[in-house]
Amino acid sequence: MPAIVVLGAQWGDEGKGKIIDSLASEADIVVRFNGGANAGHTIVIGDKTYPIHLLPSGIFREGKMNLVGPGVVFDPNVGVQELKLSKQFGSHVMLDSSIQIVLPIHRLMDASRERAAGSSAIGTTLRGIGPTYSDFWLRRGLTLHDLRSPERIREVLLSGGYWKELFAIVSVLGGANIDFRELGMNFNPLHMDDTIDWCVQMGELLSPFLGDTRAYVHEALERNRHVLFEGAQGVMLDAYHGSRPFCTSSLCTAAGVVATFGVYKFERVIGVAKAYVTRVGAGPFPTELLDAKGEELRRCGHEFGTTTGRPRRCGWLDLAALRYACRVGSITQLVITKLDVISGIKDVRLCRSYENVGPFQTLTNDVLTSAKPILTEVPELIGDLSSFKTYAELPLPFRRYLRQIQNVTGVWIKGVGIGPERNQILWR
Ligand code: IMP
Repeated sequence: MPAIVVLGAQWGDEGKGKIIDSLASEADIVVRFNGGANAGHTIVIGDKTYPIHLLPSGIFREGKMNLVGPGVVFDPNVGVQELKLSKQFGSHVMLDSSIQIVLPIHRLMDASRERAAGSSAIGTTLRGIGPTYSDFWLRRGLTLHDLRSPERIREVLLSGGYWKELFAIVSVLGGANIDFRELGMNFNPLHMDDTIDWCVQMGELLSPFLGDTRAYVHEALERNRHVLFEGAQGVMLDAYHGSRPFCTSSLCTAAGVVATFGVYKFERVIGVAKAYVTRVGAGPFPTELLDAKGEELRRCGHEFGTTTGRPRRCGWLDLAALRYACRVGSITQLVITKLDVISGIKDVRLCRSYENVGPFQTLTNDVLTSAKPILTEVPELIGDLSSFKTYAELPLPFRRYLRQIQNVTGVWIKGVGIGPERNQILWR
């Protein structure tokens, strides 16, 4: 059965968008299955760069079908913008009618919580992800299907004192003092009538795209069509396997596909990892570089968030964390991106294990916070990789570096990214 899953194997921002975009040329359907507009996938086509947050990275392929599944939390403002992009590229989009909506008040709640948390803030993307997933698990809130009429929207918001509760939480957290314009909103998210008007307007724009994505996927698989499931964030940010509370609120492994689509068999699960590591937001990061080397990696890798513009924290490749991600993510193949970025950087180091953590130990927040990485020297990685066309052409030190990744993780490297362009991936 040709279902393939692509996951981030680190803390997000591994360059999955480019890999999905490349694999999408052979897939019939691309499916986004988790997260929301907290993700930022960048696709470079010719001299243009397209950052997207919510729709699958297959929208840049003419004629391609792109689905947004029921496990995603959907910010209609972002969705409407990206649907225009899909139209421009001539691709198709179906949004699952049962997707949970991120309301402006969820975003305000996210911002209020972060502000109230002070120094213990998670460093979320402020996209309302946590509050919206909380409402999903509390079995309340609006779905895309509910946006069909003002009466239905009002009914859901008033049912069981839902709106009153959201309003009270934001007020207690001091959210009323946050300037909503700073969050990019043009009306006060605490006003229910304005929220309903906005929902109606969004519903009208989105209704032509609604459908039953689960039925679509099962029928497609029955007909042996190729379905590519696109994961957002990364295994190390997974709600279960990440370092809680410094993680996101969705399932970032193939379990997200299992849970939300009821698809259990995969031809392969591809993990995407950078040749070094980055992380945004707070939380443990054992191989982080807080010195000039970290700065150099940030500069050479252009490591600034696609969604928030925040500078990313940078560090050496952490194979202890990657091995864990491969294990709990059931990753069967790896793609290593941005190999070109570490080319030319002097005194590269690699972490193969932690001094004080067992090989099967769960990398919880406590474990990762106290983990002592053992760093080994890497022979110089020098050379311009941009013109290589095959994996075998890569200079020996690079192939050795990649071989170490394979040896420690026990996972085959299927491809390597050697530049930002769409075609700068060497597949094996
Ligand atoms: P949230 O998903 O906005 O609630 O943020 C929770 C944590 O996940 C924060 O540390 C974010 O920086 C991180 N995060 C969420 N989405 C991404 C992403 O796409 N790339 C990298 N980090 C992310």
